[in-house]
Amino acid sequence: MKKYFKIVKDSNPSLRAKCEEVKEITPEIIDFVNEMHDYLVTSQDEEISKKYNIRAGVGLAAPQVGRNIRALVVYFEEEENGETKVIDHRLINPKIILESVKEVYLSGGEGCLSVDDIHEGYVYRHNKIQVKAFNALTMKEEVITARGYEAIVLQHEIDHLSGILYYDHIDKKNPFLQKEDAIRL
Ligand code: NI
Repeated sequence: MKKYFKIVKDSNPSLRAKCEEVKEITPEIIDFVNEMHDYLVTSQDEEISKKYNIRAGVGLAAPQVGRNIRALVVYFEEEENGETKVIDHRLINPKIILESVKEVYLSGGEGCLSVDDIHEGYVYRHNKIQVKAFNALTMKEEVITARGYEAIVLQHEIDHLSGILYYDHIDKKNPFLQKEDAIRL
């Protein structure tokens, strides 16, 4: 890990700020996004995460590392039909342009590197989304289609850019409210 980021926790008001659009895609911004990516990948390495006392994450948004700009990264591996698929997003100025009516949620609830307290309950997300963004991997403006878990993670990270945290979505009166039509993961 080239750069060690200090994760901004939810007690810090800056995490509640609305992030600014990146006006110009500079090499510095690309480097920053790649550093966030490196941090995320490293966090998933058990040995290194233990050594540096960092928590494993699958997504990270710029405000979580102290920059209130619209940039985020997502990285995880998933098994699909016996094959390992790598999900790697490095997005600048992401914008959700389409979202399904169908909802999805994690049976174990969501977590966040910026949140140390436990907030139990279901977070309902759109099961399918389309995101328009500048992709720092391909260096092009693209539209990404995501479903299920990938869509959940992307919505969680995009929320960070508006100062929204996952537990804001949990029903206060009934945290484990069951929605009949939603997909449970
Ligand atoms: Ni988060």
